[in-house]
Amino acid sequence: MRKKLITGNWKMNTTSLTSKDLLTGLVSGLSDEILEKIEVVVCPPFTSLAAAGEIIKNKKIRIGAQNIHQKNEGAFTGEISAPMIKSLNCNYVILGHSERRQYFGETNHLINAKVKNALKNNIKPILCVGETLDERENNVHKKIVDEQVTLCLKDLTKDDMKNVIIAYEPVWAIGTGKTATPEQANDMHIAIREALENLFGKEAAESTRILYGGSMNDKNASELLAKPDIDGGLIGGASLKVESFINIIESAIK
Ligand code: PGA
Repeated sequence: MRKKLITGNWKMNTTSLTSKDLLTGLVSGLSDEILEKIEVVVCPPFTSLAAAGEIIKNKKIRIGAQNIHQKNEGAFTGEISAPMIKSLNCNYVILGHSERRQYFGETNHLINAKVKNALKNNIKPILCVGETLDERENNVHKKIVDEQVTLCLKDLTKDDMKNVIIAYEPVWAIGTGKTATPEQANDMHIAIREALENLFGKEAAESTRILYGGSMNDKNASELLAKPDIDGGLIGGASLKVESFINIIESAIK
């Protein structure tokens, strides 16, 4: 049984002050009983990670970062490394988000180096994959996503896969209000699981969690999360409001 995972990607939103409010709201709105059933990870900006680590200290909510550098240290002005976030009790990191690919030129090769470095530092990567609208219209979406999965997970072992989470995020659905239908999403999740099976075998493929992301909100979450191959969500916009994020988490309990 794959435990459902709901992750909030706050992107470049919230200051040190507003992130505290948001997280405090989540902490008081989520009972231990809910957190027993659903794994919840929130990914604030780097500047709020230390404070976030304090707020969630005795809670089952976990925190993640939105990116790391592929090296542990060195002359890389402005960058943040895996050991830096690990020292803040941050055990997850979103990698390969389409915004990083699109605006910061991240390639599958670079993302692969980051995934390996996260694992080396005992941080669980949430690897994002997904096609653009153009790629879907040209019917190459499965090929593109298969390639992303294969290249980003290159050289990993079955054992490594116990700590890897995949997020399928069609680029055309991110921040657009246009969600993939539950069928479209589930279909892609099955294709991703097949790719994982080819790489790591059936057992690893069956136990890897694949999240859906792209305009998921408290109106469409329960339908998406009811699909057998959708193991949770990576939520941007709707994770910035306490009520809607909690509603999504609650709709994952079935
Ligand atoms: P969205 O973002 O929920 O605002 O579409 C999802 C994401 O980019 O992870």
